Amino acid sequence: MAEKTTISIIKCDVGSLAGHHVVPKPLLEIGEKRLKEAKKQGLINSYYVFNAGDDLELLMLHQEGEDNPEIHKLAWNIFQESAKKATNLKLYGAGQDILKTAFSGNIRGMGPGVAEMEIDERKSDPIVVFAADKTEPGAFNYPMFRIFADPANTAGLVIDPNMSGGFKFNVLDVIENKKVVVKCPEEMYELIALIGTPGRYVVSHVWRARDGLICAKTSTTRLSLIAGKYIGKDDPVSIVRAQHGLPALGEVLAPFMHSYFVEGWMRGSHWGPLMPVGLKNSKCTAFDGPPRMVALGFQVANGAIASDDDGKPMISDLFDDPAFNLARREAVDYAVTLRRMGEFEPARLSAEAMEYTTLDKVLERLKRRFTPA
Ligand code: F6R
Ligand code: MG
Ligand code: MG
Repeated sequence: MAEKTTISIIKCDVGSLAGHHVVPKPLLEIGEKRLKEAKKQGLINSYYVFNAGDDLELLMLHQEGEDNPEIHKLAWNIFQESAKKATNLKLYGAGQDILKTAFSGNIRGMGPGVAEMEIDERKSDPIVVFAADKTEPGAFNYPMFRIFADPANTAGLVIDPNMSGGFKFNVLDVIENKKVVVKCPEEMYELIALIGTPGRYVVSHVWRARDGLICAKTSTTRLSLIAGKYIGKDDPVSIVRAQHGLPALGEVLAPFMHSYFVEGWMRGSHWGPLMPVGLKNSKCTAFDGPPRMVALGFQVANGAIASDDDGKPMISDLFDDPAFNLARREAVDYAVTLRRMGEFEPARLSAEAMEYTTLDKVLERLKRRFTPA
């Protein structure tokens, strides 16, 4: 097939059962029903609806390209309908991420998070889609570095000549709205210098250096900057391509064998340990977390997710695996350790990061009581 294939993962917090912890079934069913219709009409070729904590996630494969108004409109309508249902059911935070009312042709900047990747299908194209809750796009910086730049993680960087040319990273400065391309291995130290500050610098794309093959995309929404006030963190999604001259599936997943710290968790105001989980545990409970991530593996075949004989897309729930038990255990250990600190840094985010939360409103009241010391 000559046509290009697009993988779109578009997500939105439309409302949750009992607080901000999980998307309930009636909302997932709206996604399921509407995407089934869109497939019948021929707009999309296949889909998978799931949740990352309180975020409704729509995975769609189609041939309409990135930033396609019809695809974005489809997602937007589903989020609107789900938010309405959530409101009727009096679910919590109904329509939380829907910041604008009228659709303007592209869902970016309207609240929902988006990662899209248009590809020329290789002979066989294994894909991993990641989705996290109670954290932000910078949460992918560390694993992206490990996967595409760290020879201690990705053996292929050392062993496979197809990878020895390295990878290029597009890094966004989300505060000043600027970008820079950094090439590894040559500029690895510079890359770390930037993306070690995940609240400001975010890896948005990764390409293979020798031929520009697109390998990874992440969502980069900043809700607070769009809305002008604190809404929550921008629970991120990412698409990563694997194998045959790219990191193997196992190299893509290896960074998650240990927990690591991300910004987010309760009230988007704390450092928290990331916990890789299977879909059945994709719910943020303890202190609204800990921040959780799911990973879905599939093959792209002729513009669709490769499906079984009944036409069902074959999806592997990659973190539903005892190989990640240690990371989960570490996440619980780190979580209780941090919680012992209460609202003292470093459990709570730095003062600069807290400016994007509701803490400022609290401090405002004290400001006029300060006198020169
Ligand atoms: C974080 C998040 C939750 C809420 C918290 C308070 O992204 O969604 O941790 O911030 O549950 O929520 P409200 O203010 O709605 O009671
Ligand atoms: Mg919520
Ligand atoms: Mg969320």
